[in-house]
Amino acid sequence: MRIEGKEYRTIWFENSIVKIIDQTKLPHQFIIKDLKTVKDAINAIKVMEVRGAPLIGATASYGLVLAILENNDQSFLNKSAEDLINSRPTAINLKWAVDRMMNKLSGVNSDKILEIALNEAKEICEEDIKFCENIGLHGLKIIEQIFNKKKDTVNILTHCNAGWLATINWGTATSPIYYAHKKGIPVHVWVDETRPRNQGANLTSYELNEEEIKNTIIADNTGGILMQRGEVDMCIVGTDRTLANGDVCNKVGTYLKALAAYDNNIPFYVALPSSTIDWNIKDHKDIPIEKRNSEELSHIEGLDENRNLKKIQLYPQKSKAMNLAFDVTPAKYVTALITEKGVCEASSSGLKKLFNK
Ligand code: MRU
Repeated sequence: MRIEGKEYRTIWFENSIVKIIDQTKLPHQFIIKDLKTVKDAINAIKVMEVRGAPLIGATASYGLVLAILENNDQSFLNKSAEDLINSRPTAINLKWAVDRMMNKLSGVNSDKILEIALNEAKEICEEDIKFCENIGLHGLKIIEQIFNKKKDTVNILTHCNAGWLATINWGTATSPIYYAHKKGIPVHVWVDETRPRNQGANLTSYELNEEEIKNTIIADNTGGILMQRGEVDMCIVGTDRTLANGDVCNKVGTYLKALAAYDNNIPFYVALPSSTIDWNIKDHKDIPIEKRNSEELSHIEGLDENRNLKKIQLYPQKSKAMNLAFDVTPAKYVTALITEKGVCEASSSGLKKLFNK
């Protein structure tokens, strides 16, 4: 997608270096950062220079390429794989990508391993782009149906950033929106700010602006009244881990939005590639929910009056803050899942049918 008119992907490999867009600096600074070692890749995932379930998976796969470049030794590779998986706990794409790479590399001779690892990491990225395009085409049909009935701008609410910045290109939740816009369907996006890290305000609004899609940032608590007043036609969000029974784990606050949508009879869609499906965990209480530093709540970074980046403290110094990063929306509140293979019910039978499991 575009930034200042130029096409980018979120991650690429050039001259033995992995290049990323540093998302901790957006929207105020656009900085391309070099990852030269597996430690750099692990750190980029931990501090969220890269974030979003598919993108952290892709970064982990390139992290293993960097590990091989540094030290072509099996025990170093095994330790790197373990450290990458542990760098963020909730999004299943991370483990999915590392397992896929390690399976591909198992038993491969050391003189061939780099080439095979690099090809597989590239393949993970190309596949994600294709899957996101397909999600866009399937989701487009839903937006088209609403437009054909309403004959006016389709208002879509989204939470966090499940845009192209969270994937390699296109995004999951945003892909149907980009396709609708390209087709000339008038769309407007209500962008949840998404406290505490403000991925909605800082990233989703930024990328929609760059693609000239109308959007308005709202505080996380505003969606309910907009729904009551008929100003939301549909919700589309992404996910970090969707269970085989259709329960959806996503950025904290998603659940409350789904409840409000349910109460107001507004369709609530979740867009995901199959790399985000956890076929093993049965009970959502077993999903490891990331607890992040409370400083993400108590402090905020933005531009000061001289347009310099500045971090300030918001709360009383003595106050405690707690920062759970994800929540779970039970399948019964999800209208449907939009996947690369098509749209299905958020249920075991819906997913099983689509993925022949
Ligand atoms: O903590 P983040 O910014 O990595 O969380 C991202 C989300 O919750 C996204 O909605 C999810 O990863 C889907 S990305 C296509």
